[in-house]
Amino acid sequence: MATVAIEGMQWGDEGKGKVTDYFASRAEIVVRSQGGNNAGHSIEHAGKRYALRLLPSGILNPNVTNVLADGMVINPIALLDEIKGMKAQGIPCENFIISKRASVLLPYHVELDHVREAALGKAKIGTTGRGIGPCYEDKAQRTGLRMGDLLEPEYLRERLESALAIKNIELAAFGGKTFTVEEIMDSLKEAMDFLKPYIVDTSVFLRKALKENKKVLFEGAQGALLCTTHGTYPYVTSSSPLATAIPNNTGLPLNAVEDVVGIMKAYSTRVGEGPFPTELDGEIAKNIRDKGHEYGTVTKRPRRVGWLDIPQLNYVAGISGIKHVCLMLLDVLDVVDDIYICTKYLIDGKEIDYIPSTVSELAKVTPEYISLPSWKEDISHMTSYDALPEKCKAYIAKIEELTGLEICMVSVGPDKDATIIRKEMF
Ligand code: GDP
Ligand code: IMO
Ligand code: MG
Repeated sequence: MATVAIEGMQWGDEGKGKVTDYFASRAEIVVRSQGGNNAGHSIEHAGKRYALRLLPSGILNPNVTNVLADGMVINPIALLDEIKGMKAQGIPCENFIISKRASVLLPYHVELDHVREAALGKAKIGTTGRGIGPCYEDKAQRTGLRMGDLLEPEYLRERLESALAIKNIELAAFGGKTFTVEEIMDSLKEAMDFLKPYIVDTSVFLRKALKENKKVLFEGAQGALLCTTHGTYPYVTSSSPLATAIPNNTGLPLNAVEDVVGIMKAYSTRVGEGPFPTELDGEIAKNIRDKGHEYGTVTKRPRRVGWLDIPQLNYVAGISGIKHVCLMLLDVLDVVDDIYICTKYLIDGKEIDYIPSTVSELAKVTPEYISLPSWKEDISHMTSYDALPEKCKAYIAKIEELTGLEICMVSVGPDKDATIIRKEMF
């Protein structure tokens, strides 16, 4: 395949960063097309650990051009901080370009995110507090600024004046901090000066690359169930993490993505509020959380943990056309005696053959489970499928049987070497 998209099939944090970094050695271009620094992609590379938020996970590979494409929301100050941090870790960070069409995420978006979540009280979404929702709202409202505006300071000032005229009223109404144009311009100065040479029309670059049959990897952020339209609304993010959104978010035609590789954990996690049918609590959840280091990369919040959910995965495979998947964090499940898999959803004792589209209906769902024994031994050093314990292979086979998906990669540890390839996908 010349072009492949990496899509998170659950609620984010499936290990997309590791897979993207793994494939980056074969890619010429890696593209992020939605979301912002709500994403947190941790990568273990050559014995070091990196946490990426805005930069695509191909940044560690100097031969890859990394693209921050049109549909992203970019906080220029956060991006500069991330680049400085990467440089301090010895990564040159010069191999990237930023779309002129990407939205600029500014300090008032962050402030609005906080005051609104506080005002929602118990009904809060549990956002990452990075201003993502307010920035996408401004884009739709047409009061947003775009990265290309940073190249024209006078126009930028005009746009800021009209945006702040509205934003400050809202901020004041919530009792939040208000902003002046000067304050924002000053806070942006260093990042603007640094980023200017990287801001281009990335869609022209990408269309040319496709014509030249370049190998392009599209790295998703978040997960399918966080999609604004198809996820567990309103407990979602404000963009679509689905691969089907990539053409629109990059300025490419529909056939730009040749295959979609789904990334799924061997269990489920979710951060923030919202329904989670297979959620666990107590000792089992704690053991999985500790072994899998299930604490947010961005906010350090403990992640909610649950069993694998087949109806949910089948729903995502259906809307995204996924046939090939990477099964991540399989090594974690040696901490339990029995592994449960939700195979069906029941409402009032009756099986339903669809995923409820409202959270109130989803809350009524009772998951039905089957269980398999865990292998109870360390598999993190195993580098071939044949070497895996029989009970581990049985779990993999059961997932394939219940989903009809082909598990092409099995990940047994955070490190690049802790990867078992069963079929090449890229
Ligand atoms: P992303 O947001 O989808 O890129 O995923 P995150 O980076 O937020 O979370 C995945 C976490 O799992 C990271 O800390 C990875 O280093 C780690 N990880 C990835 N694959 C494996 C694996 O197979 N086993 C273990 N134990 N950890 C893994
Ligand atoms: P990666 O790319 C997990 C969740 C937040 C919250 C909801 C809305 O690392 O998989 P937002 O700040 O986007 O308005 O928050 O979405 N969320 C994520 N959860 N992984 C992510 O990204 C997430 N990005 C947003 O926790 O529930
Ligand atoms: Mg993450």
